[in-house]
Amino acid sequence: MNAQAILAGNHPRKRVAILISGRGSNMAALIEAAKDESYPADIVLVMSNRPDAAGLLTASAAGIATVLIDHMVFGRDRGAFERAIQAALEAHRIEIVCLAGFMRLLTPWFVNRWSGRLLNIHPALLPAFKGLHTHERALAAGVKTHGATVHFVAPEMDSGSTIIQAQVPVMPGDLPETLAARVLEVEHKIYPQALRLVAEGRVGAA
Ligand code: GAR
Repeated sequence: MNAQAILAGNHPRKRVAILISGRGSNMAALIEAAKDESYPADIVLVMSNRPDAAGLLTASAAGIATVLIDHMVFGRDRGAFERAIQAALEAHRIEIVCLAGFMRLLTPWFVNRWSGRLLNIHPALLPAFKGLHTHERALAAGVKTHGATVHFVAPEMDSGSTIIQAQVPVMPGDLPETLAARVLEVEHKIYPQALRLVAEGRVGAA
């Protein structure tokens, strides 16, 4: 605990890693929230499985340690890929992991190891539209309301208890891109809110 935290009688901020595969706009929203010293989590590591993930540059520019663990290097050996991730998380003494547009499925070995401390954001109102292409599928299904979910990760894909959901309306004439942009706006609000709840111990995995 640092001196400031002791003086304030606060708990130390939780050490958080964000796992990304691409643009990293949700990562950027979490980094922005954590700039406030009263925020209960500190983003200390950003890890990407893709060398071309734009979010790596954003994280470096924010002064955050980055690590590339390229899944291609491990071929089909998911266990070795995840052991490399685990080693990086341990080296940085990570306490909570946030998946933010991380597009690899994680095995039960990894998920169970991080149970209650592994969060994901999904661009749909789970349990509706698990998996990929959520906006296209929501439009095809003709739903009037769509949205995003932050949830604890469980071994089965896009399951695990919900921490926060936010809804957006589907507008006449929406395209997947316009709907995605509306959903992304609420993603950037609810992910920092959800991480706060978990870091403060106010919500736990069921
Ligand atoms: C976000 O919309 C996120 O919800 C989604 O990928 C996008 C990543 O954007 N995640 C998934 O589809 C996970 N299955 P970002 O890199 O700008 O945060």
